[in-house]
Amino acid sequence: KTGYITFDPGFSNSGSCTSTITYMDGAKGVLRYRGYPIEQLAETSCFVEVCYLLLNGDLPSRAEYQRMSVMLNDHSLVHEDMQIFFQNFPRSANPMGILSSMVNALRSFYPELMTTEEAIETTFLRLISKVRTMAAMSHRISRGHKIVYPRPDYSYCANFLNMMHDSPVRPYEIKKEFVEALNMFWVLHADHEQNCSTSTVRAVGSARANIYAALSAGIAALWGPLHGGANRAVVEMFEDIRKSGGDVKKAVKRAKDKNDPFRLMGFGHSVYKTYDPRAKIMKKMCDKVLAVANTEDPLLDIAMELEEVALKDSYFTDHNLYPNIDFYSGIVLRTLGIPVEMFTVMFAIGRLPGWIAQWKELMDDPFKKLFRPRQIYVGETMREVLPIDER
Ligand code: SDX
Repeated sequence: KTGYITFDPGFSNSGSCTSTITYMDGAKGVLRYRGYPIEQLAETSCFVEVCYLLLNGDLPSRAEYQRMSVMLNDHSLVHEDMQIFFQNFPRSANPMGILSSMVNALRSFYPELMTTEEAIETTFLRLISKVRTMAAMSHRISRGHKIVYPRPDYSYCANFLNMMHDSPVRPYEIKKEFVEALNMFWVLHADHEQNCSTSTVRAVGSARANIYAALSAGIAALWGPLHGGANRAVVEMFEDIRKSGGDVKKAVKRAKDKNDPFRLMGFGHSVYKTYDPRAKIMKKMCDKVLAVANTEDPLLDIAMELEEVALKDSYFTDHNLYPNIDFYSGIVLRTLGIPVEMFTVMFAIGRLPGWIAQWKELMDDPFKKLFRPRQIYVGETMREVLPIDER
């Protein structure tokens, strides 16, 4: 335990905090969850193990893992009355808007207070399991397809793929390598210190709003194209490059032009000033899943050429702009058959255990204060109000 370090009161009002969950070194490209390097976790641990790690502080024993897996399956169904909500969204509704609404709505179905360890654990696992189920449901219903229910004999990730793709006319074949890829994808997204959406979750939690409201707000923040929405924007950027003849040099030129709002999506990071360690792992995963699917993706060639051209250009290296997690993630998702409109939802499912762990850490902090940053006022000095006919 790091113990409690007292800071200037303004420290915790500003939303800055001490944390024991995730460590990042932006200069060296280091990322660790509870002290474990992301490279080791991505290679050796499944997403459910990493959920346990983030929520409880260490990796589970086999018995703890099995108990968590059973509880996740027990809580994998969504209240049948919630299907009416899904049915009444326009088919074209953005799934991030649906997810944010539905997570907030979950509170109405589970109003019990989190006053015991058991109620807290149940709420956390209910959210981790049902958000995954709701994501698949929103996809199926948006396509006019019957929803597919989770199966008790399938793992967390296998269930998701099956709920997304199974069909009465073409039963979905669960590929072990795709399940492994999805586990790794969600492990890489599971937490990332005080990023925009996590800070949002903490800000809402600091007002003592319930966890469903805090997570719903986090999903809304993640939706933005500069944050979680970037994985979708990256693939749309690759598609635009491909449609205009594959000229990556033109995209690089535009990204450098200060008069052009265009940015190289999937490049740059607020903390990493070198290659995002998650992007390195995601890049390797592209080749692996494409080989299993026995297919090629022309967007991967564009991505790799774009990276090569950009990193040879001093504008990017001088500004410390390197590929981040979103640069290659969309190619993995395309190969897993996930439609582009669901890309940011995939990020949200992965980030859920991190948001929950960060919310819990805040709630457990005896010194927590209401998130209330201050400002530097640069507006009008004091002046008198004139009657309307004299203005
Ligand atoms: C995520 O915080 C997290 O941890 C987030 C995340 C997580 O796991 O939670 O890692 C997930 O959000 C990853 C980032 C996904 N977003 C994108 O890929 C969008 C494209 N990237 C940029 O918009 C930008 O790099 C940010 C927003 C990610 C970071 O921006 P910063 O650090 O605030 O830097 P900045 O906007 O102040 O830019 C610094 C300079 C500027 O040039 P100058 O005015 O100084 O000359 O770099 C330029 C920018 O114009 N720049 C870019 C660029 N990113 C920054 N130029 C071209 N293309 C880019 N992508």
